Amino acid sequence: MLASFAPTFLRCPTCGRDRTLTLHAEESDEREVRTGTLTCSACGATFEVLRGTGQLMPNPPEHVAREAAGLGRFADYMRASGWTKESILLLPDHDDGYWYVQGASIRQLLATIPFAPGQSLLDLGSNTCWASNFFARHGLQVIALDISLWEMQGLYTADYFIEDGISYFERVLGSMNDMPIASGSLDYVFACEVLHHNDTEGLRKTFEEAYRVLKPGGRMLVVNETLKTLHDPVGVHAEAVEQFEGYEHAHWASQYRWEAIRSGFSTRVLEPCYHGYFRQPTNGPKPALTDWRARTSYELRSRPLGRKALLSWINHVVGGTAFGMIATKRDGQSLPRIAKRLRPRAGRR
Ligand SMILES: C[S@@+](CC[C@H](N)C(=O)[O-])C[C@H]1O[C@@H](n2cnc3c(N)ncnc32)[C@H](O)[C@@H]1O
Ligand SMILES: [Zn+2]
Repeated sequence: MLASFAPTFLRCPTCGRDRTLTLHAEESDEREVRTGTLTCSACGATFEVLRGTGQLMPNPPEHVAREAAGLGRFADYMRASGWTKESILLLPDHDDGYWYVQGASIRQLLATIPFAPGQSLLDLGSNTCWASNFFARHGLQVIALDISLWEMQGLYTADYFIEDGISYFERVLGSMNDMPIASGSLDYVFACEVLHHNDTEGLRKTFEEAYRVLKPGGRMLVVNETLKTLHDPVGVHAEAVEQFEGYEHAHWASQYRWEAIRSGFSTRVLEPCYHGYFRQPTNGPKPALTDWRARTSYELRSRPLGRKALLSWINHVVGGTAFGMIATKRDGQSLPRIAKRLRPRAGRR
């Protein structure tokens, strides 16, 4: 944790005040404070800094503590399955379908969003910290936030990435439901495969928190969220989730979107660039009418409304892909009427 960092971006998790934490170093290296304390000037609460990581989750709910413990067991399982520090360092490049989708999705974001060096980004549920590293290498000022510290499945994995002295990002132990991050301080909140670690109430709190910590005009980038669809109304793989005590709940695409709108965001749902429908070009020759499936898909893909219909069909009915969305924080004055009515205080945070 950088000496200049704590006062700028943090919120005290005990009294909820912004920018009241000061950092006292006990042990530092050439880069950062490795061991120390964060003390709140308003309420006097203190929090440890261990391995450069601010420990800002004083009383986690039971399900959060259980999930974090399970990730320690999952890290052991990964090691036993051949994962090493070297393979983590290569992420998102890893030879399987899951990581293919992660890589394609983050590159799609890079092509879609005008990221500028120096902008700030919070990586929610950073896990191995691969995305924190990715954005840090693109010049962003990144904070990794997770409930887990375990090497290979939590914030201490950051040391793999930052020890080369090229990449750097901050690490904070905390929950997305109650972010220990100061209001209005960030340009982006990145949420990849993490919002489904919420029940319905947690999902609502997370969108409200993301809205709070973003600057006006800031964006929440939702990537690869697990979906409930008519074809797969459960959406999570119950066996593995139970084994490691994950707190996972798939949500409907419309629910992710609704919770964002309700919190005050304007939303744009992303096409899954890796899916056959959206990958295929629309400038080639039209398929013959006799090949009605190919022709229908071609006609739909060639029109904006058709693409929306296809996207909605995939997201709500057939599934097989994950959900992506860009949610932009409007300023308080331009909150949609529905958000104002349902959440009257949203614009004032
Ligand atoms: C499936 S992993 C996703 C990881 C990462 N975003 C990626 O793309 O590889 C989900 C992560 O969310 C974290 N998580 C679960 N509940 C959380 C919460 N309430 N607040 C913050 N992180 C949480 C878990 O510890 C885990 O690291
Ligand atoms: Zn305090």
